[in-house]
Amino acid sequence: MRSKIPSFIMIPSFLSIIIFMFYVFFISYNHISYLVHPITIFFFIITTILLYILESINNLIFRRKLRFISEKERKKIFEENEGNYFYRLYRFIFYDYKKISYDEVTKIDHGFDGIIELDNQLPMWWVHLFYLTIVFSAIYFFSYLLIDYSNPYKEYDIAYKNQLKNIEIFEKNTPQVTIENARFKESLINSGKVIFEENCATCHQSDGSGNIGPNLTDDYWINTKEKDLFKNIFYVIWNGSDNNPTMRAFGKSGEIKGNDIEKISSYVYFINQKYKKPLKSKVPQGMKMPEWSKI
Ligand code: HEC
Repeated sequence: MRSKIPSFIMIPSFLSIIIFMFYVFFISYNHISYLVHPITIFFFIITTILLYILESINNLIFRRKLRFISEKERKKIFEENEGNYFYRLYRFIFYDYKKISYDEVTKIDHGFDGIIELDNQLPMWWVHLFYLTIVFSAIYFFSYLLIDYSNPYKEYDIAYKNQLKNIEIFEKNTPQVTIENARFKESLINSGKVIFEENCATCHQSDGSGNIGPNLTDDYWINTKEKDLFKNIFYVIWNGSDNNPTMRAFGKSGEIKGNDIEKISSYVYFINQKYKKPLKSKVPQGMKMPEWSKI
């Protein structure tokens, strides 16, 4: 008969294993919030009570069994169960191994070289760690191959969907930029370029040098609705052109949102003011607006 593990260790350990299994189960079905659901908590409480009952039954059996063994064995068990549990555990893990004397150790005689190898017992903590790795690898193997938990593709899928949902919520809750608060931002140039290439490059070329639409990199402007160049660009993209419906009202019609127009405007402002001019571009159209270049 082995010495007993006290209930204040046994029950919490069982309970944490059960909670961990619930955790794994809920996480793989993306229902992690169910872990604090009243029904789940009720289940944990019932489980704890059942574990207590089981523990007392075990205790009874243990005490009954003590009656049927010899006096010597009983004494040994009492000795083993005496004192602080943690001290006993410590002894079980470390001390038993140190205790073995030279005479008791198995010796492997190599014979040919006269060296005698001592086959020392491995420390208990080491052996247990080894078993633990086996258990862990088995659990990991199954959870990786057979269920969704810890499957990287599934995890990626969930994370990706969550990300999209968060972006959607963020976009819904943050008010879109309007012409009043739109500003040129260097950080927006690159994303602006991407949207520009999708929506504007057919008529203006991706470097803005002009095609059906005018060259956006020179100082000549047909539309001068705002005093500030950046605002003027924003204005034209939002409202379109009064003289030529080919340049449609991307903002007003809802085709492109305010935040994206701020990005595109930053890109157009950048290629007009700061970036090197394209080698070939459309002939100037509109009025020369040299003062804009000083902004
Ligand atoms: C279908 C072709 C077409 C598309 C697509 C288009 N534009 Fe235009 N764009 C034009 C034309 C044509 C004009 C000239 C309008 C005018 O004569 O007033 C123009 C004018 C402009 C102007 C004012 C230039 C000036 O000199 O006044 C800006 C700024 C501009 N476009 C930016 C954009 C941006 C940014 C996009 C993408 C969101 C875009 N355009 C998409 C055809 C287009």
